[in-house]
Amino acid sequence: MTELAPQPAGAPAADPLPEGFRFGVATAAYQIEGAVREDGRGESIWDRFSHTEGHVARGETGDVACDHYHRWAEDLDLIAALNIESYRFSIAWPRVQPTGSGAVNRPGIDFYRRLVEGMLERGIEPIATLYHWDLPQALQDAGGWAARDTAERFAEYAAIVAEHLGDVVSQWITVNEPWVVAFLGHVEGRKAPGVRHWPTALRVSHHLLLGHALAAQQLRAHGAVGPALNLSPIRGDAAAERQDGYLNRWFLDPLFRGAYPQDMLDLYEGFFGDFDAVQDGDLELISQPLDFLGINYYNPMRVRMNPGDLPLQVELLRGHGTLTHMGWEVDPDGLREILVRIRREYRDLPIYITENGAAYDDADPVEDPERTAYLAGHLEAVRAAAAEGVDVQRYCVWSLLDNFEWEHGYDQRFGIVHVDFATQERTPKRSALWYRDEIARTRGVD
Ligand code: FCB
Repeated sequence: MTELAPQPAGAPAADPLPEGFRFGVATAAYQIEGAVREDGRGESIWDRFSHTEGHVARGETGDVACDHYHRWAEDLDLIAALNIESYRFSIAWPRVQPTGSGAVNRPGIDFYRRLVEGMLERGIEPIATLYHWDLPQALQDAGGWAARDTAERFAEYAAIVAEHLGDVVSQWITVNEPWVVAFLGHVEGRKAPGVRHWPTALRVSHHLLLGHALAAQQLRAHGAVGPALNLSPIRGDAAAERQDGYLNRWFLDPLFRGAYPQDMLDLYEGFFGDFDAVQDGDLELISQPLDFLGINYYNPMRVRMNPGDLPLQVELLRGHGTLTHMGWEVDPDGLREILVRIRREYRDLPIYITENGAAYDDADPVEDPERTAYLAGHLEAVRAAAAEGVDVQRYCVWSLLDNFEWEHGYDQRFGIVHVDFATQERTPKRSALWYRDEIARTRGVD
């Protein structure tokens, strides 16, 4: 690791952040750990998917990734050196239960125990995600999230994690981005398990919410629990309401109001028949109070009506302005908008920004002015939302390290720390130094 430059004296930050607020950084197991065959880890749907030709750019996989499984101590040192206060990581289910059910795999859970203890030794708060997309392949073979039983298995896994880590972790995220899992994984087929079937995707979405609810019951005695939803403001014509129903309300309404949005139910039932995945009592469970809502925010979406594009009749349009390397529009105010909306339309509850960040095709591996500007702009939006009364409690940059960006492979670099994948050398980018100094500045004036 290169030496970090001394911290410059900066201007005090504008709006204060809510009491209890922490600056964090986020990663996910399959994107950084590597070591996919070590210590009894079972196969996940992302191992299977990435090893199947045509799914991931250049045929890349997470087999080695950032080798974090072996370099975790160095990575935690880096987090601490950057003044970062919370680390959102994910637990790989197939390390804990290689086939998704039955007895715990001791070496697997021990790895996370060491990791969490390493955080606590360095004064870093652990935020553990239980499902960041790496379903044990054996459960997929038995129907995956389309099978209700998977939600029950998820609760069993959550109970194991709570038993082994509940004394050292007090912040829990159940499922990450159920919309992506359900619809990108089961309609578009761009993500594992690569299914293309609307009725399956709808069942999956319900079982993910049910899984969240059942897991939350296991975890609640051990701290604060919430899901992480990817939310976007939608801009456009009549299609905007539809897209909002598809992306945002389909998850927010059951969680906060105990009901799926009627316009979307009517639409889906018109095409696919009764939404019979929902059983009596499910929505009561799903709408049990959350300790916080996790929000992953990257960009707004622009849409217009396209009658031929069934069932939604929504066409996605190119974003305005200079796009990120992912092709995403940059709109920090969209984050403020989402935060204010949750408080106004749903509930005034603690919000964790569980992911926010940008991939850029940086000309220089460590000079990343665009990423720095992206993060600075979004942090300002968080402060603006806080000034409007939103109780934002965490802000986690996606991501600590350049990593395996799912179907895009290693070419989409979201890290504030550069990773040379040939040598595994980590080098903080300018954005990491900016973040370190921003945290110091904020704490200096607190
Ligand atoms: C989110 C995922 C995360 C990462 C970012 C860029 O959808 O949760 O793993 O891929 O996007």
